[in-house]
Amino acid sequence: MTPTVAIIGGTGLTALDTLKITRREALSTPYGQPSSPLIYGELDGRSVVFLARHGLHHTIPPHKINYRANLWALQHIGVRWVIAAAAVGGIRADMEPGVLAFPDQIVDYTWGRPSTFFEDHLSHVTHIDFTEPYCPTLREKLIQAARELGLNARESGTYAAMQGPRLETAAEIRRLERDGCDIVGMTGMPEAALARELGLRYAACAVVANWAAGKIPGEITMAEIERNLVGGMEQIKKLLVRVISMLDEE
Ligand code: HPA
Repeated sequence: MTPTVAIIGGTGLTALDTLKITRREALSTPYGQPSSPLIYGELDGRSVVFLARHGLHHTIPPHKINYRANLWALQHIGVRWVIAAAAVGGIRADMEPGVLAFPDQIVDYTWGRPSTFFEDHLSHVTHIDFTEPYCPTLREKLIQAARELGLNARESGTYAAMQGPRLETAAEIRRLERDGCDIVGMTGMPEAALARELGLRYAACAVVANWAAGKIPGEITMAEIERNLVGGMEQIKKLLVRVISMLDEE
């Protein structure tokens, strides 16, 4: 049976070690190759499909990810729900490293990324509604699952999608803060918009990996990010098991 739930894993979640893998499928799409083969398997007895956003060996930087191929592949196999795991920097005072966050809004600062399926061979110009960029139903289920598990999670927040791959300057973070952003990452767009264009029910589960630039003195190191991701991703794995059982009952 085709799974209805997909997990897109980001930094720190390139391999979902709790997944009992049943098969892999290398798809090609009209938009090229997805970041990784589709990895089918079971999480606690429920079937899911997993895609590694940065590739299986974490070699694809945020601005080079083929977001269109990734989302197209998931829709093509019949997925309905997409849970996107991602590492972010914390801007808001309660977004400290190690917590989970379920953003409810996005500000897109990325540029030059192929960001729509509605480009060529159109019979009419299409504008999707994106007032609520994440699926409210899926967000609600993630929040409920996190509450039931007693996880340390922030239930709303505005996600700033930055171009990367470098981290931000302190002044850029001050600007994002003035813009009302609470967390900052590099892969949330165009992923969320493309999912909406395809009618996929998409929500993000972010792990705060570090304080955003300038929030505390000193440099941000990859070692710090990786250290904080370990704990956060353990929480995400628990959350996934719980939320997938809730979605299965839909
Ligand atoms: N900025 C942007 N993306 C990130 C960060 C950050 O501080 N941490 C993890 N992903």
